[in-house]
Amino acid sequence: MATFESDHSFLIRGVEVFLRFGIGLKRSPDVGEGSDHLASHRAYVGAPEEWDLVAARQVTLLLAAGLRNTHRLVDIGCGSLRAGRMLIPYLRHGHYFGVEPNRWLVERGIEHELGRDLIGMKRPTFRFVDDFSLSAFGVSFDFALAHSVFSHPYPDLALTGLQRIAETLAPEGRLFATFKEDPTDSVGSGWLYPEMVPYTWERFEGIVEESGLVARRLHWMQPRQSWFVAAHPDVEAEIDDLSLRLRQPLQYPAAGPG
Ligand SMILES: C[S@@+](CC[C@H](N)C(=O)[O-])C[C@H]1O[C@@H](n2cnc3c(N)ncnc32)[C@H](O)[C@@H]1O
Repeated sequence: MATFESDHSFLIRGVEVFLRFGIGLKRSPDVGEGSDHLASHRAYVGAPEEWDLVAARQVTLLLAAGLRNTHRLVDIGCGSLRAGRMLIPYLRHGHYFGVEPNRWLVERGIEHELGRDLIGMKRPTFRFVDDFSLSAFGVSFDFALAHSVFSHPYPDLALTGLQRIAETLAPEGRLFATFKEDPTDSVGSGWLYPEMVPYTWERFEGIVEESGLVARRLHWMQPRQSWFVAAHPDVEAEIDDLSLRLRQPLQYPAAGPG
């Protein structure tokens, strides 16, 4: 039987080709591989050698789950724009929103990964806060992404974050996020970094439900954490279906030359 990784590996390869040959836009002169500036802003969010692959895992999941360029997306804990440098060019003008307490990460992401030209063209909006106050954007989000963010708060802060997401997620909106799954239980308060706060799925799902959302685990690539999708209870059947669909190799309609 094909493994989960191999089922979706063609998607990852596609994104790697996209990265290798560029997106056809002129970048600022100091943007790109081989820059001396790469180390710190990449290393802060994870292993620098996995930078592109981890970005691809996030973006391919969103696309497979139905993200289109007309949607409005909030990238919670967007860091140095690991996913943002793919999502900002893709989404329509003004449709990407980023939240990040460490302003320097976003600034270096713009300077050394994305390039200022794209900021001017796509007009993403950023807020530099640590209280998950998403309502200040004044937007109802179709998609929320929180990759490797809920792996760091203890239950009190995780609940705050999920409540703020629930308040701003559109009726049909979806949150895609990771958490650190482990049989060990966590005791503490606030944020832990770079270490991760472990949860059993039952405990984490309980916090999601307390926030007013419902959740399903997802089988998607992430060797050290687990993905889940969350949404409002009215669309529970749809996320249930999505969680089953993403276990299978992606299906396409038979018609058409592509
Ligand atoms: C492991 S990094 C992941 C960054 C990004 N999501 C990615 O995958 O590259 C965790 C990020 O969460 C940010 N963070 C810390 N406290 C936060 C908070 N209260 N709300 C949102 N993000 C926070 C960190 O600054 C860091 O950028």
